[in-house]
Amino acid sequence: MDIREILAKYGQTHLLDGLPEEGREDFLRSLAALDYELLRRRPERGERGEISPIRCMTQWEIQRGRAEYERVGRAAIAGGKVAAVLLAGGQGTRLGADGPKGAVDIGITRPLYIFEQLLENLKAVCKACGVFVPLFVMTSDKNDGTTRAFFREHGYFGYPEEMVRFFVQDMLPSVDFDGKLLLEARGKLVLSPNGNGGWYSSLMRTGILEGFPAVEWFNVFAVDNVLQRIADPLFVGATILSGCASGAKVVRKTDPAERVGVLCLEDGRPSVVEYYELSEEMANARDGDGTLLYGYGVILNYLFSRARLEEIAGEKIPVHVVKKKIPYLDKLGNFVIPETENGYKFETLILDTVRLAGSCLPFEVVREREFAPIKNKEGTDSIESARILLKYNGVEL
Ligand code: UTP
Repeated sequence: MDIREILAKYGQTHLLDGLPEEGREDFLRSLAALDYELLRRRPERGERGEISPIRCMTQWEIQRGRAEYERVGRAAIAGGKVAAVLLAGGQGTRLGADGPKGAVDIGITRPLYIFEQLLENLKAVCKACGVFVPLFVMTSDKNDGTTRAFFREHGYFGYPEEMVRFFVQDMLPSVDFDGKLLLEARGKLVLSPNGNGGWYSSLMRTGILEGFPAVEWFNVFAVDNVLQRIADPLFVGATILSGCASGAKVVRKTDPAERVGVLCLEDGRPSVVEYYELSEEMANARDGDGTLLYGYGVILNYLFSRARLEEIAGEKIPVHVVKKKIPYLDKLGNFVIPETENGYKFETLILDTVRLAGSCLPFEVVREREFAPIKNKEGTDSIESARILLKYNGVEL
C-alpha cells in the first residue's frame, strides 16, 4: 500500500500538511516503517492471571550458602560470562535535571556523580574477581551524545574505555487523545524512548554482542540506585545454581501498602505486579510466621540468561500506553508546551521480561545496604535520602 493510502486508512493525513521539500522522502520512509496498529492501542487495565506468592531466597539462606554462591559467581565473572547493562535512556522527568540523570552531582564536599558512584560499585567487584566486566550503557537519542561526552570527560571513571560500550535505545512516536500522531516540527514526529523493556532488542541490533561471545548473563540495572551492587558474585552464583533463566534482587516491603512492584507468580510464572494491582487482602496476607506473602519488592536489578533471551527474542513484549504531557506543534504551526496531559506515549517495561523468561530467582537484599534510588527532587527517593544511605554505608560525600 502507498504511504498516502496508509495515512488515510489510519487518519494521519495531517502529517502531510505543509510538509517541506527538504527531508520529505526520509520522513515518508519513516512513516512507512511505523506500526499503526500498535499506535491505536489505548491504556487498559490488563487482565491479570491467577496471582500466587513466589518463594524468595532469603538473606538467611543466602548467608548459609554464601561460600558456594560466591565461588560460582566469581568464577563466572572471572570467565567473562557476566556483562553489566546500565539502563540510562530514561528522561528522569521527576528529578528534572538538565542532561543525563547519571551526570547529576550528589557530592557534598567533593563532586560525586551518579555514574561515578555506580562505576565505583562495579570496580569493587572487578577488583575482587581480577577482571573488568563488560559494561553496556543504554542511552536514548535525547541523551546519547551528552552521556558519551560525560564518560569521556571523566576518563570513564577509571574503567577501561574498551570495556564500555554505548548503545541507543529505540524510539516510538506519541499520539494525541484522538489518536493523531504528534509532530515536533513539520516533517518531524515527536519521538521518545520506548521504555526500558527494549534494551535487549536494541542491544542486539548494534552487533556489540558479537565482540563478547563469552557473555552468558546480563546484569541489568537502573541508573538511579547509587547503592546497588553490580555483577554481585553472590547473586550471580545463586542464580546460576538455581537453574532459573533470570534472577531479581528484591527488598522486603516496609509496609503492606508500599508503592513497589511485587514479585509473585501469575498463572505459575514469575511476574511483577504493581502495588495497585494487589487487592488489600492480598497486600496484607501473611504466612504462619507473620511474613507478608506478597512482601518482596523489585529494585530493578535483574540477571537474565543470554540463551533464554535469544529463545524469547521473537516473542512480543507488551507495550504499555501511558498518558503524558507532550510538547507538540499545533495545526497553526505553533509549538505548544501543554500544562496538562494531552496524549499517549508507548513504552515497554523490563519487568515484563521476567515473565517472558519463565523462571526467576527472587534474591533478597538488605534495603539499607543496596537500595538508595534517586527519583524525586525531594522527600522519598531523592538525592537527600540517598546521601543518608550512602553515608551509612561509609561513602564519603
Ligand atoms: P524510570 O521508570 O525511573 O524512568 O526508569 P525515568 O525516565 O528514569 O524517570 P521519570 O519516570 O521520567 O522520572 C527506570 C530506569 O530505566 C531507565 C531509566 O534511565 C532508569 O535507569 N529507562 C527508562 C530507560 O533506559 N529507557 C526508558 O525509555 C525508560
